[in-house]
This record gives sequence, C-alpha cells and structure tokens, in this order.
Amino acid sequence: MVKRMIAMLMILSVAFACVLAGWIQDEVGGDLFSIQVTEPYSSDYDECLDRAADEKAEDARPPLKSRVENMDSYDIVFLGFPNWWYTVPMAVHSFVEEYDWSGKMVIPFVTHGTGGLASCIDDLEEALVPATIMEPIGVYMDDIKSAQPEIQEWIAGLNIDLKQKGGREMAEKNDKKIRIVLDGGEIVVKMENNPAAEDLLGRLPLTMKFEDFNGTEKIHYLESSLDTAGAPDECTPKAGDLAYYAPWGNLAFFYQDFRNSPQLVPLGSIESGAQYLEQFDEYAEVTMELVP
Ligand SMILES: Cc1cc2nc3c(=O)[nH]c(=O)nc-3n(C[C@H](O)[C@H](O)[C@H](O)COP(=O)(O)O)c2cc1C
Repeated sequence: MVKRMIAMLMILSVAFACVLAGWIQDEVGGDLFSIQVTEPYSSDYDECLDRAADEKAEDARPPLKSRVENMDSYDIVFLGFPNWWYTVPMAVHSFVEEYDWSGKMVIPFVTHGTGGLASCIDDLEEALVPATIMEPIGVYMDDIKSAQPEIQEWIAGLNIDLKQKGGREMAEKNDKKIRIVLDGGEIVVKMENNPAAEDLLGRLPLTMKFEDFNGTEKIHYLESSLDTAGAPDECTPKAGDLAYYAPWGNLAFFYQDFRNSPQLVPLGSIESGAQYLEQFDEYAEVTMELVP
C-alpha cells in the first residue's frame, strides 16, 4: 500500500494550510501532520515579518514541537507552507532536514502574496534531494477560501495514480467500524487509520460511562493513555466526530462543532445514530465494541 501524508507548516491555529490540507486529504486520503515551531510565531504581522527576516538572514533552523516517528512508512508527502521572504520559511528546512527522503515523492502546496512562488521550489528541491518533487500548486492568499476546485484539478492533473491508491487506502480506512448499542438503536463510528485509533480498537470491547462537557461533547476518561505517536496532533472537530484529547486522556464524542484544538487526535466519525449523542450521558454505562 502507498501511504500518504499531508504535512503543513502551522503558523497560527487557523493557518491557511489547514484548509488546503483538508481538501487534499479529501481527494487522496492520508494522514495529516502539522509542522509547529516550539516558539510560536507572533500573530502581529510586523513582528512575524521581522522574525522571519532574521531567521532567513541567519539561515536558522527553528526547533520544532514534534517529529513524524514513522516517516519511513510514507511514500508520498504533500508539503504545505507559505512563501516567506521569497522562499520557504526556515522552519520547513528544520522539518525536511530531519528525515531521509530517498524514494519518496514530495508534492508542494504553497500560499503566497503577490510574489508568487518566487524561489520556494528551487530552495525546497535543494533541501529535499533525493526526493522526487512533483508539480507544486501555488495559491494566492486572497483566493485560498475558494481554491477547492483548483486543488481538485491540480491533483487530477498530477501524473500519478493517486485516485486509485487513495481509493484503496480509503477503503481500508473505512473498513474499521465500532458501535455502541443503546436501547432501541446504536451509534456506529467509522474509524480513522491512525495509531491512536488502532490502539483504541485493540482495547475493545470496553464499558464506559460518558459525561457532558462544555455543552459540546460527551467525554469518557480512559484508564490509560492511547498511543498517539505518529497520529495527527490536532483537529477541528465537527458534530458527530470521535476524538481523543491527549492531555486529559479522554475520548470525546462531539455533538456540536468545535474550534481547532491542539493535541485533539481524530479517531473517527459517526456514520449513523448521531441523534443519540445528546442524551448519551443519561446511560449508566455503555459498551463500545468492534463491528464484526
Ligand atoms: C513573514 C512573511 C513573509 C512573507 N513574504 C512574502 C513574500 O516574499 N512573497 C509573497 O508573495 N508573500 C509573502 N508573504 C505573504 C504570505 O505568503 C501569506 O501571508 C500566506 O501565504 C497566507 O497564509 P497565512 O494566512 O497563513 O499567512 C509573507 C508573509 C509573512 C508573514
């Protein structure tokens, strides 16, 4: 199986790259990874400009919060970042220098102001030898919100059989389902294909008591932490999503949309039975089990 990852440089929690990365994932499947510096960039534009200029002048390698532990298992990496000072942000160099790119295909997606891609791709190619770099897409920052059709067209035009491989992987991803049987119905959840979801699947069946949290989610604290190494380390949950909040060690079924949250690992999304969620905490106990 060809494994794909979509890695993007996160500047702020609502950065552009999340939007584009989500659309790429819709097309090709794969796992999301956000590249985050340990010292976040300022949300003040001028301060961010100054720091980025200094880092470029110093050829700096800003330290990153986390790394992809299982990078060896990915064949295709979509790599997203903004054009900063006519080139890739230095944190992208920090990222690429951590891994061996032999045999991998890298597909860049770049957002930019009026300067276009400038020397982003040349500089990236130099850093990424010996990977094969595919045709990048550049999206003007004011067009990002309406760029989904452009992303779809670009992916369709890449000279690789992503659709077929994506289809296979998606089929595997969607094969695994869990359910919670309730009086008169059940909640069925399609599971994600990531290590935390795998860890949870390996523990089933489990009896749980859920409680309401924040008028947004129903939560249950697991007895021990899920293995999140290599899993996405943030997500923007929608009503019907199941996620794992790593700092507290709880599962969370969202019955309302919620904001992007660091360390919230996506585990799956409800396929049927979402209507039972709001009363979910009224049950003394429920059992979560694999759908055979
Ligand atoms: C530090 C910094 C430097 C930038 N340099 C350039 C540049 O040289 N050329 C350009 O076209 N856009 C430049 N931009 C605009 C960014 O490419 C644009 O803000 C980004 O692609 C949009 O994503 P965002 O909303 O996450 O910032 C720069 C922005 C910042 C913050």
